Amino acid sequence: MSAPKKLYIKTYGCQMNVYDSERMAEAMGGAGYVETRDVSDADMILLNTCHIREKAAEKVYSELGRFRELKDARPDLKIGVAGCVAQAEGEEIMRRQPLVDLVVGPQSYHRLPEMEARLAKGEKALDTDFPEEDKFEALKARPKARRGPTAFLTVQEGCDKFCAFCVVPYTRGSEVSRPAGRILEEASGLVERGVREITLLGQNVNAYHGVGPKGGDWSLARLIWALSEVDGLERIRFTTSHPNDMSDDLIEAHANCAKLMPYLHLPVQSGSDRILKRMNRKHTAQSYLDVIGRIRAARPDILLSGDFIVGFPEETDADFEDTLRLIEAVGYGTAYSFKYSTRPGTPAANRAQVDPSVADERLQRLQALLTRQQREVQQSMVGREVSVLFEKPGRQPGQMVGKSEYLHAVHVVAPDIRPGDIARVRISESGANSLAGVLI
Ligand code: 5AD
Ligand code: SF4
Repeated sequence: MSAPKKLYIKTYGCQMNVYDSERMAEAMGGAGYVETRDVSDADMILLNTCHIREKAAEKVYSELGRFRELKDARPDLKIGVAGCVAQAEGEEIMRRQPLVDLVVGPQSYHRLPEMEARLAKGEKALDTDFPEEDKFEALKARPKARRGPTAFLTVQEGCDKFCAFCVVPYTRGSEVSRPAGRILEEASGLVERGVREITLLGQNVNAYHGVGPKGGDWSLARLIWALSEVDGLERIRFTTSHPNDMSDDLIEAHANCAKLMPYLHLPVQSGSDRILKRMNRKHTAQSYLDVIGRIRAARPDILLSGDFIVGFPEETDADFEDTLRLIEAVGYGTAYSFKYSTRPGTPAANRAQVDPSVADERLQRLQALLTRQQREVQQSMVGREVSVLFEKPGRQPGQMVGKSEYLHAVHVVAPDIRPGDIARVRISESGANSLAGVLI
């Protein structure tokens, strides 16, 4: 038997790309590849890319340039580009960077083994189709090896909302929900391999409506309730949600489903109704605050997270102040904020841009406010009892690190704890980005 070939995958962007990279590694496992963490050892390098902002997309070309020496030294090294940049710019990548042998979009990566076979014959391969067949079905053969206690599971993909700034509807296509029965099977398989927490993924995950195991239409809440009956699965999370799809049954699940964690990522992007309208968000600042109010009534301790864009075309100082006011009103436990980045082909691309230095200054002010809130929320955990799912050893001897139900990283000195254990912890200290505590 010949030695297995080595595959090196580098992942950019969102959690769905992390999930996709795992699936690609599994697919290539069937073609005789094992994963390596050492790029110089690889027979094939795959960059799983993100197109969400200009910087993310540009990284691909600079990273590819760095592989020239490797490829000069080993001409049989294969270089592939996967993910959202592949989808958006596949042919251009091939033109701009002759080092690239393979380009595969997010909807066709189950075809990687066939594509690799073409590379072995000295051809190049490009596939950015949105195929009829279901890639998840084609990728069903799962490894049995044990794995860490947390996992992502894609349940929904794509987006029909068309926010004016966003490439996702073009790179990931229109909304598709996987059948609930398949998701339950995949979840059970993960639990058998040691997983105790699953984060359900979708670009619009709370718009999930998949066919149920016995037919009918299942909502995300229904899926969560069914998953909560999987023995050994202790924690369920989901991301990312749109405010307009926070249905009553999902809010009710936050009140009553013990395995659904009290953490919600609910992007709003802006607090100005004028900008929200121009962004085509289809909600107002007040309707967002109303949804938050209903969620907090259901689950008062929930930790909220959001996404913000500053410097969207035509954003004025007054619009920006509205965003700061909304943030003050909500009180986020964590948040992600970005300067608007023009994406070719999106509706906002041709509008009057905000002066970059103005956008920079707004981003700084917004981040200062969000950081303050994050610290306050973290500080408020001190003295409280939380439950921690431990993931790995920490840097100090005998120390373990895990996540609380609120997704805070928690350090505990606990030599007898193993990854995958869940234990009650009293928080004693709040550091820059994590908490410390003691076992109860
Ligand atoms: N510019 C800046 N940020 C963007 N996002 C999406 N598109 C853009 C863009 N063109 C942000 C949004 C989204 C998150 C995933 O990335 O805040 O929620
Ligand atoms: Fe980036 Fe969006 Fe693609 Fe995820 S789906 S990799 S965030 S462009």
